[in-house]
Amino acid sequence: MTNKQGKKENVRTMFNNIAGKYDFLNHFLSAGIDYLWRRRVARIIRRENPKTILDVATGTGDLAIELAKKSKARITGIDIAQGMLDIGQQKLKAKGLENQISLRLADSEKLPFSDNSFDVAMVAFGVRNFEDLDRGLSEMLRVIRLGGMIVVLEFSKPTAFPVKQLYSFYFRFILPRLGKIISQDDSAYTYLPESVGQFPDGKLFLDRLEKAGFIQTRQDRRSFGVATIYVAHKR
Ligand SMILES: C[S@@+](CC[C@H](N)C(=O)[O-])C[C@H]1O[C@@H](n2cnc3c(N)ncnc32)[C@H](O)[C@@H]1O
Repeated sequence: MTNKQGKKENVRTMFNNIAGKYDFLNHFLSAGIDYLWRRRVARIIRRENPKTILDVATGTGDLAIELAKKSKARITGIDIAQGMLDIGQQKLKAKGLENQISLRLADSEKLPFSDNSFDVAMVAFGVRNFEDLDRGLSEMLRVIRLGGMIVVLEFSKPTAFPVKQLYSFYFRFILPRLGKIISQDDSAYTYLPESVGQFPDGKLFLDRLEKAGFIQTRQDRRSFGVATIYVAHKR
């Protein structure tokens, strides 16, 4: 991500470029563990019995689809990359979920929804890509109802030996090469480890949630800290 466009435009271009291969790469490069993480997020959210859910940075809609498997909630997915949404829309059609999940082009930093309009906002592997993280979090706070919940799934940095060393080797040397060969995109899979490295994970992210105005923040580290699920509420 070194050219002169802003981060948002770079991110949009990159995801539009890799959209057709995104799902395959996602599951292949994570050996399918991403399914388990999304399933866990879905379980946490279903316990709240929400009627309306916003899936921010929905991409090709995998988290929304996971939620819809065992919930009747109405789900709205938004993303800035139309190419990702187009793939998502094809999946919704194939699964007969077009009446339950609607996808639209929108920016997480300027959500086109009124205050207090969702029970839950969720985001998987999206917050790390925001140009303005604090603004994205404030927007999610604004659109959920009082007492509503936000759930964030994001990569984090393992700290314990030897997972830390293995993860770092895989992320720095294996993943960018495999990603480049399969996606034919030079930057996408060097951007991934870079953006994870720069992301304020763990306690730092809980601090950002609190700064945005969320309360009752907690984190649940998964797979030795390779990913973390963050949960918080609106007062
Ligand atoms: C790694 S993908 C995650 C997609 C999906 N949530 C999943 O779990 O597979 C990140 C997505 O964030 C989207 N994104 C990045 N910045 C965004 C923003 N400001 N507003 C909305 N979506 C954004 C990208 O276009 C991309 O589709």
